[in-house]
Amino acid sequence: MIYARIAGTGSYLPEKVVSNKDLEATMDTSDEWIRERTGIRQRHVAAENEFASDMGLQAARQALEMANTDASDIDLIVVGTTTPDKVFPSTACTIQRRLGVHNSPAFDVQAVCSGFVYALDVANRMVITGGATKALVIGTETLSRITDWDDRSTAVLFGDGAGAVVLEASEKPGILSTHTHADGEFEDLLEVPLGEQYIRMNGNAVFRKAVATLGSIARETLATNGVEKADLDWLVPHQANLRIISAAARKLDLPMEQVVVTVDKHANTSAASIPLALDIAVRDGRIQRGQLLLLEAFGGGFTWGSALVRF
Ligand code: COA
Repeated sequence: MIYARIAGTGSYLPEKVVSNKDLEATMDTSDEWIRERTGIRQRHVAAENEFASDMGLQAARQALEMANTDASDIDLIVVGTTTPDKVFPSTACTIQRRLGVHNSPAFDVQAVCSGFVYALDVANRMVITGGATKALVIGTETLSRITDWDDRSTAVLFGDGAGAVVLEASEKPGILSTHTHADGEFEDLLEVPLGEQYIRMNGNAVFRKAVATLGSIARETLATNGVEKADLDWLVPHQANLRIISAAARKLDLPMEQVVVTVDKHANTSAASIPLALDIAVRDGRIQRGQLLLLEAFGGGFTWGSALVRF
């Protein structure tokens, strides 16, 4: 049996940090309101000349280095992003060029905040069926460009960044299963409408649906693998709101010490949030080789998904 194993992780955050206090100066909000309702304290914002490919490239380089892998050995690049550099070609193609890779398939996956889990699902399936042996899976977003900085109901929630993993074919596990779903019925609850530039959201409805859906995807993932909640070492969730993350952890009977939380520092970086959180917990030594990780995401569409990973 061939698995896709995470051989390395990487991440990148833009230099500019915008704190809740900074936002207080430009809109009718408060640090206290943002922290209490979301857990967010600050977010990173891309520079004017910084795009999804720039950030994804940095994250990819770090992941390649950790995996001890030469870019020339990469035979698949999948990028989860909702904020690509251009309409086309894909951000994956731009990153491929800048890595000096030729001929591998390279494409973007658009599943909003579930983008990384969707990208991981596709790459995993290609690796385990022999279509690729070393894949780069990247989540990278410049959400600040589709955020209306005059709308306090959304502006406080989002940030920019990138994360990446190198997957390699291995006899050792590996990604144990991936799960992806969508229900377009809910598309108008969280969207950038046609002809408009900024995110529009029904925050309350999204919140309720996210909590319910993350509970069901976790149950589905554990049941598929015959794994108990108590077997999990880490929950690495999409970072939208600390209250959503805490609710997901409670459903899994996991103490917050076993949940990777970055939403306080990064806010919601959409497809970048899971690989960013993963890389941070790998590099600071919390996540160790051999541990069992549950990755789970929910986003616009609605889309949702998960992966159970033996790291
Ligand atoms: N600062 C201060 N007050 C704010 C505010 C802000 N940034 N944003 C909204 N408010 C106000 C509202 O106007 C409202 O005032 P009112 O009662 O006078 O009308 C009040 O705060 C409560 O708003 P409400 O929307 O009910 O708050 P909430 O508890 O639902 O929290 C969110 C709002 C957006 C934080 C929450 O709904 C949420 O996180 N939803 C999920 C969003 C998400 O994760 N999206 C991405 C999914 S991938």
